[in-house]
Amino acid sequence: MTTASKTFVVGATGLLGSQIASALLDQGAPVRALVRPGTKGDKRAALAALEARGLELVEGDIPDPPQKLAAAIGDATTVISAVQGGPELIVDGQVTLVRAAERGGARRFIPSDFAIDITKLEDGDNFMIDWRRQAATAYGDTSLDVISVLNGAFYEVMIGFMGIVDWEAGTVAHWGDADQPLDMTSVADTAAFTAAVALDPQAKGTQRFAGEVLSMRRFHQALERATGRSLALKRLGTADELRAEITRRAGLTQNPFEYVGLQYQWCMVTGKAKFDSLDNDKYPQVKPGSLEDFAREAAPEA
Ligand SMILES: NC(=O)c1ccc[n+]([C@@H]2O[C@H](COP(=O)([O-])OP(=O)(O)OC[C@H]3O[C@@H](n4cnc5c(N)ncnc54)[C@H](OP(=O)(O)O)[C@@H]3O)[C@@H](O)[C@H]2O)c1
Repeated sequence: MTTASKTFVVGATGLLGSQIASALLDQGAPVRALVRPGTKGDKRAALAALEARGLELVEGDIPDPPQKLAAAIGDATTVISAVQGGPELIVDGQVTLVRAAERGGARRFIPSDFAIDITKLEDGDNFMIDWRRQAATAYGDTSLDVISVLNGAFYEVMIGFMGIVDWEAGTVAHWGDADQPLDMTSVADTAAFTAAVALDPQAKGTQRFAGEVLSMRRFHQALERATGRSLALKRLGTADELRAEITRRAGLTQNPFEYVGLQYQWCMVTGKAKFDSLDNDKYPQVKPGSLEDFAREAAPEA
């Protein structure tokens, strides 16, 4: 349902945030985006395309003081954070944003969660998710309604960043039980669900969506059908062996981003961060695409 109230998007130059802004504009909703000073090149061009569709831009940066950010938020009633970064942004920056939103008179905040079920995980399971839970605790006293949108893993990440699929070698490598169901959604569909939530005055609490719930075995079959290629499904070890591998890698580097993909996989293949139920049916206007259709477009040519 579309309302006349304005949404403020932070991260509109990013992968997800740009598509959230676009999905809101598709619904005819007024949107203002915070853009960092000095944004240029492809990001500026993408913003200009959104601007031509009605996006309002305001310059600012998350470390800006709350009164400056509050002025940028202006008359927006819902603030969506789709930022990505370290704890200074995900924890401290999002707290600043919440304080600014309160000061500016906004009513709702959608944090930069967009993940597997972060409510079911514990400290140490995944350091990037730890920051999101720390942020939620730090702004837990807010007067705003906080609505967390969770989408499982992006299809884009499942066939790319996660390192599961090696297109050159023709392998799909997984840990744990090949029949464990996993939640996944494309970036575009996550954006469409987020826009639907933002425009739903009844939305509250944590909202869980999945474009598909697929086991690794079915994921592998979908990729084979999509590409017409024969891909080998390789089991790398048990979930416990994956945990040991994460510990081993953590001992070799100061940079946790080098093993965060494995932490995401562990949270998924153990079933620990699996959604217990989905909220897709609340927004039947969003018709998420299948992994197979996505891969038909996105997989590299053999
Ligand atoms: N479930 C999944 O599989 C999955 C995968 C990837 C991401 N995600 C989640 O999706 C969300 C967005 O991630 P993304 O991949 O879209 O991120 P991204 O492409 O890296 O974009 C990050 C955005 O944050 C903005 N930003 C960074 N620092 C900022 C600051 N100090 N002040 C204001 N804006 C700032 C960036 O602006 P500039 O352009 O100015 O740098 C950019 O617009 C995150 O919560 C992330 O964890 C989920």
